[in-house]
Amino acid sequence: MPEPEVFIFPTAEMLAVATAQRIADVANAAISAHGTCLLALCGGSLPPHVYRLLATPPLRNQMPWGSLSIIWADERYLPLDHPDSNYLLARQTLLDHVPIPSGRIFPVPTNYPAAAQAAEVYSHQLRALLDRHAGRIDSVLLGMGPDGHIASLFPGYPALDAPQDQLAIAVTDAPKPPPTRISLTPAALNCAADVIFLVAGADKATKVRAALRDPYNPQVNPAQIVRPPTGHVIWMLDAAAASSL
Ligand code: 6PG
Repeated sequence: MPEPEVFIFPTAEMLAVATAQRIADVANAAISAHGTCLLALCGGSLPPHVYRLLATPPLRNQMPWGSLSIIWADERYLPLDHPDSNYLLARQTLLDHVPIPSGRIFPVPTNYPAAAQAAEVYSHQLRALLDRHAGRIDSVLLGMGPDGHIASLFPGYPALDAPQDQLAIAVTDAPKPPPTRISLTPAALNCAADVIFLVAGADKATKVRAALRDPYNPQVNPAQIVRPPTGHVIWMLDAAAASSL
């Protein structure tokens, strides 16, 4: 795997524009190469800006909507119409405004009575999807919390050691609310062809530096566990998030 690439933008707005363009470019390249594109979305504060840009011309007209399949890097264990659902966030800012066939949208099934059951079902769905996409998630969008968590993989949490054959895992007692979540596992994230860490704000600067510069210790810096053997990892940062590099 090549070293992660780092791109720094003066403002969070410029960062969102460049990230949306990157996703469009990766999606089109995947369609040209393979005819399909599997895209993993996440929650957080910046992704909605990216999603709105993708849903608005000019990018709306560049995206291969009809050939995309959508999954989630992580989800809060809440009904999918809950205001804090990552699915609802993507629905309202992106999916309701673009022509993606509804059968190609694969939310985490949070309607199961236990998060572990939802994770197990999602893991099986993802396995089937990956089998149809040559084992590859074409593009994964991830944020990073000030504590260094990515998706719902929090520092020191057992989900970081999820078995290799499991693609989604339930996370309980998460420090960021809500406490119960479902996350792609490290094994799933490492099926990515292109990973974007989208990070803004001075409160993330120390952990951005640690993830990029400290020795490998994913229990402390979960972003370090994302090392797809045949994929690219890029960090898209605003100046504040990059200020300790
Ligand atoms: C979630 C996310 C989570 C998020 C980071 C960064 O559901 O909470 O997917 O991993 O990406 O916490 O969030 P901010 O950009 O809001 O800091």
